[in-house]
Amino acid sequence: MHPPTDPIAAVTHPDPYPYYAALVAERPFLRDERLGLWVAAGAAAVEGALSAGAARVRPPDQPVPPALLGSAVGGTFGRLVRMTDGAYHAAMRQAVVATLAAVDAARIRDAATHAAAILRLDRSARPFVDRVEAAMAGLPVATVALLLGVRPEDVAAMVGGAGDVVRAIAPAATADEVGRGADAIAVLRGLLTAAAADAPFALLVSEARKAGCDAEAAVANAVGFLSQTFDATAGLVGNALRALARERPERSGVPSDPVRTAAFLREVLRHDPPVHNTRRFLAAEAVVAGRPLPAGSQILVVLAAAGRDPAINPSPGRFAIDRPDRRHFAFGAGRHACPGETIATGVAAFALCLLASGIGDLPVDPAYRALPNARIPVFRR
Ligand code: HEM
Repeated sequence: MHPPTDPIAAVTHPDPYPYYAALVAERPFLRDERLGLWVAAGAAAVEGALSAGAARVRPPDQPVPPALLGSAVGGTFGRLVRMTDGAYHAAMRQAVVATLAAVDAARIRDAATHAAAILRLDRSARPFVDRVEAAMAGLPVATVALLLGVRPEDVAAMVGGAGDVVRAIAPAATADEVGRGADAIAVLRGLLTAAAADAPFALLVSEARKAGCDAEAAVANAVGFLSQTFDATAGLVGNALRALARERPERSGVPSDPVRTAAFLREVLRHDPPVHNTRRFLAAEAVVAGRPLPAGSQILVVLAAAGRDPAINPSPGRFAIDRPDRRHFAFGAGRHACPGETIATGVAAFALCLLASGIGDLPVDPAYRALPNARIPVFRR
């Protein structure tokens, strides 16, 4: 098997980890002239890039991709905490974090159980691989929709709409996809505002106002919860199922013991995470991980390689549930660290309970969705 040609091709490679190990050992922070960017792969370089004061999540002269300007998709994109920096980000992030922190593990389990019933995932009659694909595609977003307070009869429309938004904001989106994304945002806005007055979505609206932001910021970030759940949590479910099938000695107690299952998922997030990379753009010259870089530098931050850095996790290739002092970057770090970890791991633990009994039927060599940053297995051939 040929190694990946670069860290973007690595995301969908059958086994990118020897390549990442070589990057970490030999070139933990390198300039890739062909890609025109810096590549941070070692843990220190990744931490340095994510914590640099001058680092931005978007190119400073292009807060919204030109293809989305003038569309409702651009309006939503420009209000996402994930895609903004500075005062607006700091204020709206508080509202986002407060809303997601109000959701506890028991509510996540109840919502996932309800979502599985709505999506009919508990019916074991169909081929196992179809149940897996249906669970990856629908369960995470349906759970988050219910957690936001959306009516059960609207959940299927929320799942469809979230998929349209994800395709619309992808870098290679066509004009048609952007148009469908704009239509979906109108539908999602209507379904969110139809949620009960005491639902978590209403909490997001009131927290947004408290932070000095408007209701439109709350709608955009609720849509953001759905779009950020869509791919990443599907990837965690798929990669965790692969680990369950592969790591026979390590899987005892999973998923029946919740404490062991939580540790198992943390090891999956380190060993084979769903989000492999993110990007940073320097708004001013800065020293990143000891290296002076000019303003305008673009950094590919390879989160998946850093979790395999032996400086922070000894014997990083070994899958070990009981690994002491495990560290990983699957949820990022610093100002933009993911606030959705409890929901993501709660949904994934539920999915393991739902699907573990059929694990012997899981294909061992999935393909991966053609994405530049997320590693999401496709089991159906
Ligand atoms: C396994 C599933 C998930 C993974 C691996 C993941 C990963 C990440 C990562 C790596 C970032 C930081 C990106 C960067 O710094 O460039 C991020 C940000 C974010 N995630 Fe997640 N995520 C997951 C699920 C979720 C869920 C379920 C939600 C909400 C319901 C969510 C909401 C967010 C938000 C709002 C941000 C932006 C935070 C900010 O910029 O301040 N994520 N996620």
